[in-house]
Amino acid sequence: MTALAEQLERIVGSNGLTTDPDELQPRLTEWRGAYEGRSRCMVRPASTDEVVAVVRLCAAGNIGIVAQGGNTGMCAAAVPDMSGDQVILSMERMNRIRNVDPANFSMEVEAGCILASAQDAASAAGRFFPLSLGAEGTCQIGGNIATNAGGINVGRYGTARALVLGLEVVLANGTVLNTLRALRKDTAGYDVKQLFIGSEGTLGIITAAVLRLFSDPGERSTALVGLGSAAAAVDLLAAMKDGLGDRIESFELVSQRVFGLVERFIPDASLPFDEPHAWYVLLETAGVPKDDLENVLVAEAQRGLVRDAVLAKNTREADALWRLRHSISEAERIDGKALKHDVSVPLSSMQEFLQRGDELLATLRPDLKLVAFGHVGDGNLHYNVVLPRDLSDDDWHREGELITGAIYDLVDELGGCFSAEHGIGQAKKSWLAKYRGGPELDLMMTLKQALDPANILNPGKVF
Ligand code: FAD
Ligand code: MLT
Ligand code: ZN
Repeated sequence: MTALAEQLERIVGSNGLTTDPDELQPRLTEWRGAYEGRSRCMVRPASTDEVVAVVRLCAAGNIGIVAQGGNTGMCAAAVPDMSGDQVILSMERMNRIRNVDPANFSMEVEAGCILASAQDAASAAGRFFPLSLGAEGTCQIGGNIATNAGGINVGRYGTARALVLGLEVVLANGTVLNTLRALRKDTAGYDVKQLFIGSEGTLGIITAAVLRLFSDPGERSTALVGLGSAAAAVDLLAAMKDGLGDRIESFELVSQRVFGLVERFIPDASLPFDEPHAWYVLLETAGVPKDDLENVLVAEAQRGLVRDAVLAKNTREADALWRLRHSISEAERIDGKALKHDVSVPLSSMQEFLQRGDELLATLRPDLKLVAFGHVGDGNLHYNVVLPRDLSDDDWHREGELITGAIYDLVDELGGCFSAEHGIGQAKKSWLAKYRGGPELDLMMTLKQALDPANILNPGKVF
């Protein structure tokens, strides 16, 4: 065992240290396997004090620390570099629900709390924690905050940023920043917790959070709707907002090709329609009588917008529809590598983006396959592209760069963002400089320099 590992073991104890290569292996690879890293050890601190001691030890030795939650991130931000010198700091042992305060509609949890556990703790107290995404059984609250995660309920409740009332963060010099206040109004100088939301482990180690809770939104109605075009989905969203107000919890767009991958690669996954449609929307409302939703869908069918629709009769049917949606990433991973574009545009530009994106891809390479799906309710699409499988690696990367740049330029022209919810990590560093260069990026780097001058927190990520 290295001297560093021995010193770390004195802090976290033998069951808080992992040096076994086999145990480390799954922590060294990004979820899709597109990035690999090396590390000699992983620490799993059991308390904030232990995190402080680990950070101080690494700071003294100028050793890089890679905070890791569930390692479900999509930008290789949670895996170490290839040097083997960085320490993985897993928050998995700091997973307690510290307290739930139903009267204040808040709860305090530790960063290693699995998202699904936080959802369950809220509902056990008669409250609702709305952050929800396909990885919720594995991802952790700390990772959700560090990536400013989005998911399927952003349209009504916002991203992780909107759900955080307070944070406890260990800074690069071992200082504990405690802003664990459960207040909706707290305006005393700068709102410093905001710096760490979406910071991807590069500004501080999140050890706990106070989260906003909501009252149970009431009866859920879930429908899978068949449409003739993606543009029709944008029209349907407008019609539903007009008809049902802001009680639309989720509005997910999926192309036929994507659901085709799910039916092909995911066991017991099949669409509840006799014939395929070019596009689908999986939508969910809460607190809306099923009849009201049905009436809107019937009216839009009569208008020729909705081709077909299935309204889940019960929770089991609703869960089966959501399983189709949440299986997309796995189906896409099995199908093979794709150029992933997690982009957002203003809702009013979504139809233009979809139409010009299709035209763009057709001119770049007619043999491309578009794998498009995502949270169109908040203007966020996963506009992924599959290149011909017989391309050499060099050609794949060269052509991929051209295609990705063209898509991101279109998004930028439409006032959108090239990174809607997954963050930057290693995967999109070069694009950050291109689309956020100048005063915005300069200020980001000033903040990084001020908070982590020795660059020990997740070195090589974001910048
Ligand atoms: P990790 O992957 O472990 O880490 C992510 C980043 O956070 C890294 O930079 C890491 O260093 C940092 N970090 C982790 N913990 C801490 C901490 N305690 N303090 C400081 N930094 C920390 N994302 C979405 O936004 N929306 C989706 O709909 C969505 N769906 C997904 C579906 C699937 C099937 C999968 C596999 C992923 C999906 N993701 C989605 C991506 C991913 O789940 C989210 O980014 C999630 O928030 C990552 O959480 P994690 O705990 O796995 O973080
Ligand atoms: C999703 O919306 O399913 C996720 O963001 C994951 C992905 O993009 O693959
Ligand atoms: Zn997503």
